[in-house]
Amino acid sequence: MSDRKPDYDLIVFGATGFVGRILCGYLLNQKVDSSVKWAVAGRSQAKLETLVAELGARADGPPYLTADATDEASLRELCAQTRVIISTVGPYALYGELLVQVCAETGTDYCDLTGEPQWVRQMLERYQAAAQSSGARIVHCCGFDSVPSDLGVYYLQQQAQQQLGEYCDRIKMRVRAAKGGVSGGTVASGINIIQEARLSSRLRQELNNPYSLCPDNSSTVTHPPTLVPVQYDLDFQEWVSPFVMAAINTRIVLRSNALLGYSYGKRFQYEEAVLTGSSVKGWLAAKGLSAALTGLTVATAFSATRRLLENTIIPKQGEGPSQASQEQGFYDLRFWGVTASGKTIEVKVLGDRDPGYGSTAKILGQAGLCMAQDFAKSDKPGGFWTPASMFGNRLIERLVKAAGLTFER
Ligand SMILES: NC(=O)c1ccc[n+]([C@@H]2O[C@H](COP(=O)([O-])OP(=O)(O)OC[C@H]3O[C@@H](n4cnc5c(N)ncnc54)[C@H](OP(=O)(O)O)[C@@H]3O)[C@@H](O)[C@H]2O)c1
Repeated sequence: MSDRKPDYDLIVFGATGFVGRILCGYLLNQKVDSSVKWAVAGRSQAKLETLVAELGARADGPPYLTADATDEASLRELCAQTRVIISTVGPYALYGELLVQVCAETGTDYCDLTGEPQWVRQMLERYQAAAQSSGARIVHCCGFDSVPSDLGVYYLQQQAQQQLGEYCDRIKMRVRAAKGGVSGGTVASGINIIQEARLSSRLRQELNNPYSLCPDNSSTVTHPPTLVPVQYDLDFQEWVSPFVMAAINTRIVLRSNALLGYSYGKRFQYEEAVLTGSSVKGWLAAKGLSAALTGLTVATAFSATRRLLENTIIPKQGEGPSQASQEQGFYDLRFWGVTASGKTIEVKVLGDRDPGYGSTAKILGQAGLCMAQDFAKSDKPGGFWTPASMFGNRLIERLVKAAGLTFER
């Protein structure tokens, strides 16, 4: 670890990408506490100059620094200059490892937006010891995957404890409604997982284990698969279809339970799905959504059909939903829990803006600020945390106050 005093509290690395640009605009518009010194970073000086000029037209533009995700020396220099790094350089499985390694070795706190469970597991295995020893707090999945799910469950469990006197040992999250689009970066990350899984039977096996991010001893408990099939949900009285983000969200929620000392119980189970309605139309919609998900997965696994999609409907990297579409976007997530004695409770998490970008950028920004402002090194030791186990109520308060989310009964 370097003795040099960092110049910044927070650096946004990947600032010139689609989410990075939204995030920087948000941080400027937020008029972040002037005591927080932040800067932007990326690999291209020309793109950074354009970004800072655009941002500077609205306010004092932040300083910029260049670094490349494949150049260790430049990443060490970046880490020496800041206490916290937010990274939006993805797909993380392709470009993210070196920065995690350098953060873990230098004690630099880190938040990102990955939704790639296999990569999170690799980072944990490879750098947990270094992060524990240096004091670096590493928090993956600080976007729509998996903050609303992780903190929604955390919030529900607190309500259950207060209202019912016990924790729920089974929770379901149902997407009641959501509106938004996808960016090229997200599609590239999804395609990369499908490609990796095609080539590795070990990874296919891992993707079937909901406990893949938990400490070893919890993997002996049986748990339903992360992708719920089309079925009629008696508790919600509606048809449900698989939810694509469940693959990462379920693992993060189960890991949070483990890191919180199994406060939700050793037998805790969690699942997510999309509500599609109670009638025949609801059944048809659930079947249609499920078929579309399977079709897209199969199409992206083969190079000919993938190229066709890339040349037609898939956005290029750096591109994503328009400003208007981000502003018109929203989400409405319902959480239902049942205790061991059969008492039930429901809460909801609502978000303004589209889940993947407008809202994700605000959530990530607040996670980074929460790390920089609310948690001294003495408050939490180094290691790989989840959003709920690292930030808990502090992040819920920030999201409600400044990121357009509500958590309510
Ligand atoms: N968890 C969630 O809810 C959520 C939501 C949205 C996105 N994501 C994830 O977030 C990531 C970013 O998404 P996006 O849409 O913003 O992608 P994007 O527009 O493609 O941006 C990627 C960024 O990475 C930078 N980059 C690539 N290689 C680099 C290198 N070698 N060194 C330094 N920088 C490098 C790019 O720099 P240039 O600008 O110079 O090309 C760009 O700034 C993706 O992995 C996506 O899956 C997650």
